[in-house]
Amino acid sequence: MPIKSIENLASIPAWSSRKTLLVCMNVIEETHDVKTFQFRAESDILFHFKPGQFVGIQIDIDGVKHNRSYTIASSPTRPHLLELTIKLDPSGVVSPWLHQNIHIGSQLEVRGPAGRFNCMDISSEKVLLISAGSGITPMMSMTRFWCDQALDKNIMFLNWVRGTQDIIFRRELALLDHQYQQLDVEIVCTQPGLNENWLGRRGRVNQTTFADMVPDIHERVVFCCGPDGFMQQVKQCLQTLNFDMANYHDETFDPGGKKKAKEAELRQIKQLEMTQKTQTKKAVGPFNLTLIKSGKTIVVEAEQNLLEVLEAEGVDIESSCRAGNCGCCQVKKISGETVTFNETGLHADRKTKDYILTCTTQLVSDVELDL
Ligand code: FES
Repeated sequence: MPIKSIENLASIPAWSSRKTLLVCMNVIEETHDVKTFQFRAESDILFHFKPGQFVGIQIDIDGVKHNRSYTIASSPTRPHLLELTIKLDPSGVVSPWLHQNIHIGSQLEVRGPAGRFNCMDISSEKVLLISAGSGITPMMSMTRFWCDQALDKNIMFLNWVRGTQDIIFRRELALLDHQYQQLDVEIVCTQPGLNENWLGRRGRVNQTTFADMVPDIHERVVFCCGPDGFMQQVKQCLQTLNFDMANYHDETFDPGGKKKAKEAELRQIKQLEMTQKTQTKKAVGPFNLTLIKSGKTIVVEAEQNLLEVLEAEGVDIESSCRAGNCGCCQVKKISGETVTFNETGLHADRKTKDYILTCTTQLVSDVELDL
């Protein structure tokens, strides 16, 4: 709802629900293949989140459910809108659907926010933001957040693109660079076209470029986001420069689906390890899975994935990464024994309170869940 008075502004509640229905208010064509979707919540809320965090979406396309995570590009200092900046992956399913079907007035349900790659959990005085492609979105959220508060933070913002037509947020970055003395933006084109008249830096990531562009690199905390290959190169360069990798933080996005394929392979290996683990625990199954709140009991085999079991039973449970990284699928375990192969996305305080990630868990005894 539009703000009509100061009183109205003061009464808007903060974002606290894990599922939120959004309404698209505007679509910005950032480049030839990138759009920013600006959303308001369907019922009035202020979007509170940590810059760098993402939201999960689940879309039904031709009867098939697809889960994706998108980093929030906007800043919590402008809490009335939530912006998702999404690059079209022509070989993908979800981004083409979003580009075609989300217009002004369209609705979209999001889950979250989630993610440890953010500038509140990782603090620093001097930062180096390194991104390529859509990896620019968390960097933009952080930069807008710091600049909106005019914080005394030294920010070096490096972004690699193929050519000038691929520079996302070009005008806004130029303006911020002009307005904030503590912000230094460098765009590097890897393959600018002959007629693009690019006068800026060129070339791929290499240690000489880093040493040249960021002479005080060892004093900075690095945030890096981009395709896997790009991040590998960045890491190698930093290691060659003897950078303290405790100050390096990254998050990948996956335009070609390579990461997902790798994750699926890893999941298979882990599932196998987990099955062996459950076998050594003599977890022969089947077991009774009791959902306390709904009073339902489900018979589960030892090697079954808990999230899949719950979904098959029609339990409304959130998921996003399905690999133990985002924390979306957590539930509280009341009793029983389980094994989990990856719980990176579960905060330590949640672990102590007996929460588990269902997407990476199998049963090794009868179990009760707070569902
Ligand atoms: S869906 Fe992300 S941790 Fe389970």
